[in-house]
Amino acid sequence: MRPGNHTIDEQRQGEAVGPRSGKEGGRKLYLESYGCQMNFSDSEIVASILTDAGYSTTRNQEEADLILLNTCSIRDNAEQRIRHRLQHLKGGKRNNPKLKVGILGCMAERLRDKLLEEEKLVDLVVGPDAYRDLPRLVDEVEGGQKAVNTLLSREETYAEIQPVRLDDKGVTAFISIMRGCDNMCSFCVVPFTRGRERSRDPQSIVAEARDLFAKGYREVTLLGQNVDSYKWNVDAKGIVKDETQPVVRFAQLMDLVSDVDPDLRVRFSTSHPKDMTDEVLEVMARKDNLCKYIHLPVQSGHSDVLKRMNRGYTRDWYLDRIAAIRRIMPDCAISTDVIAGFCGETTEEHEETLSLMKEVRYEMAYMFKYSERPRTLAERKFEDDVPEEEKGRRLSEIIALQQEHSRERTAAQCGKVYRVLVEGPSKKNAEEFQGRNTYNSVIVFPKGDAQPGQYVYVRTTDHTSVTLRGERIAEAEAQEAGYIA
Ligand code: SAH
Ligand code: SF4
Ligand code: F3S
Repeated sequence: MRPGNHTIDEQRQGEAVGPRSGKEGGRKLYLESYGCQMNFSDSEIVASILTDAGYSTTRNQEEADLILLNTCSIRDNAEQRIRHRLQHLKGGKRNNPKLKVGILGCMAERLRDKLLEEEKLVDLVVGPDAYRDLPRLVDEVEGGQKAVNTLLSREETYAEIQPVRLDDKGVTAFISIMRGCDNMCSFCVVPFTRGRERSRDPQSIVAEARDLFAKGYREVTLLGQNVDSYKWNVDAKGIVKDETQPVVRFAQLMDLVSDVDPDLRVRFSTSHPKDMTDEVLEVMARKDNLCKYIHLPVQSGHSDVLKRMNRGYTRDWYLDRIAAIRRIMPDCAISTDVIAGFCGETTEEHEETLSLMKEVRYEMAYMFKYSERPRTLAERKFEDDVPEEEKGRRLSEIIALQQEHSRERTAAQCGKVYRVLVEGPSKKNAEEFQGRNTYNSVIVFPKGDAQPGQYVYVRTTDHTSVTLRGERIAEAEAQEAGYIA
């Protein structure tokens, strides 16, 4: 996955996805994505639907006829960022009265037509399950009306829509395997903005992976809010729907996708501690192209807090899942999400989060201050009673500890030989490439004759706190050194 990037990615919020440059003439679409990878993946579906409707995408906001913001509601600051962006766009609309602006994604779903009233410059509001309706809605808007569709669906998976890949490096891609979430964690807005959980037809997933591989892609990330609860041909109660067809759960799906080609790396996000099975871990252990990296959000290290969060597991259960990972894949990298200052969190409970982090020693973590979200269980049942300043203090402790662990983990990966998938030029030095090893660690090395999309062998010799640097070596030498695949 991209630098510091999984379900939620603060760093990429606000960054424009790089739409393909459009054909001359015709209507031009500028699409900007915020929030989690699911939103970035959805933007590729939106681009596909609107390309079929005659739009071409542009990277240049100035020449756009239609600007769409694919938005996130996960924390209040995610929504504030969109509001600022809308204010900023006002000028563009003044210069070009024909310009239309639309809101897609989770904030559209949460606020619906209120957005039209609140934010006067919005012409179009479309929720995550209504993108097929975009051509009609956009026509309405072009006719001078406002248009809204925020209907959620129990079935929509956009299974057969071929996404227009907006990241034009052509090496790594996302594949959505399911949508929505049925978990109702008490802090979380996602069940309200994304609706009920539904899984996508495995054949369409495998076909998409195969197509990507044929086009030169070498890594796919399977996306869902809770990938461990992926299921096909079986209902929520475990009753098989069609006896003549196989049941496909996440373990079988990973097996199928990893069979596309041994040179196609497969990652996934996000695992849920309450649902992650040993079977999934065993499939991962069996195959080199299933990357040895698991993002397993813990949220809190104290069972009472976890209970208030309605996470469905205790501290002990979580640590048992970590033990299972270590038993089945001793070298697997593990990352997490942590929330500081949830409703009623005492200092003792906060200390337990620190102690759990010390026990697990995560490679990486995304860490947040609790932000109360309208309509959630926590908003209705509990008081958001940890003062802002105290949340900040707890969060800094969590971040400082994680930095220590991340540094330690990076150092431990130095001096070894890895098979690295080359992604593209390094951000800091155009003479160097960057790629990743199976553990999702970024490795930088001199370009030589390597090409993006190629696998190379690199011996790491040096590192900063999160980036490894190394030298490319020949395959024979890598084999002799017992490289990590
Ligand atoms: N489905 C994934 C996470 C989706 S949201 C899972 O269950 O793990 C990504 C992360 O945002 C969560 O793991 C959580 O750490 C954080 N988050 C969600 N709601 C939040 C809130 N109200 N305040 C602060 N952080 C929140
Ligand atoms: Fe939100 Fe919980 Fe669903 Fe994750 S599992 S999306 S945190 S409700
Ligand atoms: Fe993703 Fe944000 Fe929605 S995290 S699911 S875009 S609320």
